[in-house]
Amino acid sequence: MKKVSFAEFGGPDVLQLIDAEEPHAGPGQVRIAVRAAGVNPVDWRVREGQVLGAHPTRLPSGVGLDASGVVDEVGEGVEGVEVGDRVFGEGASTYAEFAVLSAWALIPEGLTFEEAAGYPSVVETALRIIREVGVRPGQTLLVSGASGGVGSAVLQIARDRNVTVIGTAGAANQDYLRSLGAVATTYGEGWVERVRQLGRVDAALDLAGSDVIRELVELTGDPHKVISIADLDAPKLGVRFSGVAGSVPDALTEAVDLITRGKLHIPVEKSYTLTEAAAAHADSHAGHTRGRRVIVV
Ligand SMILES: NC(=O)c1ccc[n+]([C@@H]2O[C@H](COP(=O)([O-])OP(=O)(O)OC[C@H]3O[C@@H](n4cnc5c(N)ncnc54)[C@H](OP(=O)(O)O)[C@@H]3O)[C@@H](O)[C@H]2O)c1
Repeated sequence: MKKVSFAEFGGPDVLQLIDAEEPHAGPGQVRIAVRAAGVNPVDWRVREGQVLGAHPTRLPSGVGLDASGVVDEVGEGVEGVEVGDRVFGEGASTYAEFAVLSAWALIPEGLTFEEAAGYPSVVETALRIIREVGVRPGQTLLVSGASGGVGSAVLQIARDRNVTVIGTAGAANQDYLRSLGAVATTYGEGWVERVRQLGRVDAALDLAGSDVIRELVELTGDPHKVISIADLDAPKLGVRFSGVAGSVPDALTEAVDLITRGKLHIPVEKSYTLTEAAAAHADSHAGHTRGRRVIVV
């Protein structure tokens, strides 16, 4: 089968499309014929050799966590899913023609493979950080870097829970944030004052890692009311860095419920082929993805 792989850590150019042995579903796993793979920033962070602790990487390595596709092998002990089912979920080396998933759910009616591949990691992350920051219905959550994959999920889940969101994004994404129910403002010069003008902030999430922790603490009045997923220096200011994934099966169940109720939609910014994986990584790394980028197989 064809698979995207890298033999050394480095820039997008280390990615190669190679012929590889097909993987097989072990106990508790399913194998899918991949139809699409989600492109997450963690994919290029692993490729660069940045996050070896959380994602131990043996070279040569495949790429990708999220995928959607059609089940073609069901591992020992797995129940509730059959060969031929359309699923989305999380696994390993998903930029490939076949991949093994360790967590999955049936794709809700009406969602394409391309769209479905964009959900698993961002929904798990969004649910985890909303829970960890402890924001309650009726309160206001400030989201720095609100228009990306995780931000798109946070905004819609918060709206579903009656949490008001103030989101920051670039000028081109202000209407997008409003379409997801948030009060929008731009980041950059003067942003703290613009947020203050919009009202009181009960809790805050740093999704962009753009050196805003001090300001988020100032706006909430308490480091315990701030969480970052992108600034490793956040703990120096007493702010929690959330980096350990929660239950992906639970997140997928919740994602299916939200999608089915019409409460969650993550748009696909752009699709790529397997041969264009390096371009997908370079574009993701540029840091201005609206929703999710995906690789279509
Ligand atoms: N720790 C964890 O568990 C975990 C989990 C998932 C992701 N992450 C990390 O969290 C970050 C976000 O992930 P993602 O998937 O949402 O990324 P993404 O889809 O690439 O989105 C990045 C967003 O950041 C915004 N942005 C860029 N510069 C900004 C600035 N100076 N101030 C505010 N916003 C800015 C962009 O908005 P505009 O286009 O509007 O400029 C873009 O929408 C990544 O660094 C990723 O590695 C961590």
